[in-house]
Amino acid sequence: MLMQLVRPEEAELADLATPLQLAVIIPTFNEAANVVPLLDKLSIALADYHWEAIFVDDNSPDGTADLVREIGQKDIRVRVVHRIGRRGLSSAVIEGMLATSAPILAVVDGDLQHDEMALPKMVAAIERDEADIAIGTRYAKGGSVGEWDKLRHRASQGATWLGQKLLRIPLSDPMSGFMAIRRETLMAAVPRLSGVGFKILLDIVASLPTPPRITEVPYVFRSRLNGESKADSMIALEYISLLIDKTIGRFVPTRLVSFLAVGGLGVAVHLTVLGTALALGATFLNGQFAAVATAIAFNFYLNNRFTYRDRRLKGWKMLTGLLSFYLVSAVGAVANIGIGNWVHQMDSQWWLAGMAGVVVGAVWNFAASSFVTWRK
Ligand code: GDD
Ligand code: MN
Repeated sequence: MLMQLVRPEEAELADLATPLQLAVIIPTFNEAANVVPLLDKLSIALADYHWEAIFVDDNSPDGTADLVREIGQKDIRVRVVHRIGRRGLSSAVIEGMLATSAPILAVVDGDLQHDEMALPKMVAAIERDEADIAIGTRYAKGGSVGEWDKLRHRASQGATWLGQKLLRIPLSDPMSGFMAIRRETLMAAVPRLSGVGFKILLDIVASLPTPPRITEVPYVFRSRLNGESKADSMIALEYISLLIDKTIGRFVPTRLVSFLAVGGLGVAVHLTVLGTALALGATFLNGQFAAVATAIAFNFYLNNRFTYRDRRLKGWKMLTGLLSFYLVSAVGAVANIGIGNWVHQMDSQWWLAGMAGVVVGAVWNFAASSFVTWRK
């Protein structure tokens, strides 16, 4: 009976049934012009492997996802995870890694800047059980950042140094986005991954309960031919927020740290506006009004831009959001004054009473605004 189900192309199917060895995860945003050249290069570099390519595209306006689907119709090694309304290199890589059944996962930029000819060496190191993670590195002997301007070089070195010091990670190139990793190693890191920003390797290594065995394979970072880099000033902030999350993040939520940092800047804005108003001849009370109103609007803007960038309010919602933030802050101010007064009456130092008010007010503002202004 069963025999009848066996189809004539069985021989060909059997070939496909050899186990999948490797998945190449390719995060993309506007990389349409690079898709075909990259797949051609991968086909040559990985000729000895049974591999598949998972593109993770954040709904690129240039139609990268459509193009990958079109290729995938003819080439079953090629798939796309198409994400709508989301952005982020690290989270894209994580989702791509979780969308394949391959035992070894490689990550390659979609812009041809990583040298795919380094991949076989990286994968082999994992197959031979010499390493859990193999990293394509620009800084080890034989590697290079290619044609980078001085400023970018300096910035990258500074960020590298900070990451190595804070997270105690002995990698020559922790900023690299070019790697291969054993699935079990990834799975051990998954529960603690932050998924913020650009630095997925750093995130994975810092999330592992035990240090992985690492092999570094040098390569030369190529310059971009098509499309443009997505690296911008936000990347630096996302990097800092990853470092916070990976260091004190276990004890204090990163969002709270960001909210408090913004609040600190708000104090500076408050004093500047108050001083200016007084210099212009305003009464103290009027100056305070102007200072409070400006500082709250300023805090709203920065929190909307950074602290809650994943729930960022846009257009008209910014106006209603600002109003709700004024309300929340007004209640916070009342709590601040009330608690301060109460502690002061218990015969404590004036500065201690003042601090108590500030802490309660700040925690209230943080908690209430996360539920009201930036509710999910
Ligand atoms: N899905 C998705 N979502 N992909 C993204 C996003 C995003 O928000 N932002 C960038 N990408 C994709 C790009 O399309 C590209 O394929 C890859 O991620 C790298 O982005 P680039 O904009 O080219 O960044 P880069 O050249 O400055 O830096 C990259 O290379 C460095 C050297 O290895 C990054 O991968 C760094 O992490 C890496 O250190
Ligand atoms: Mn690039």
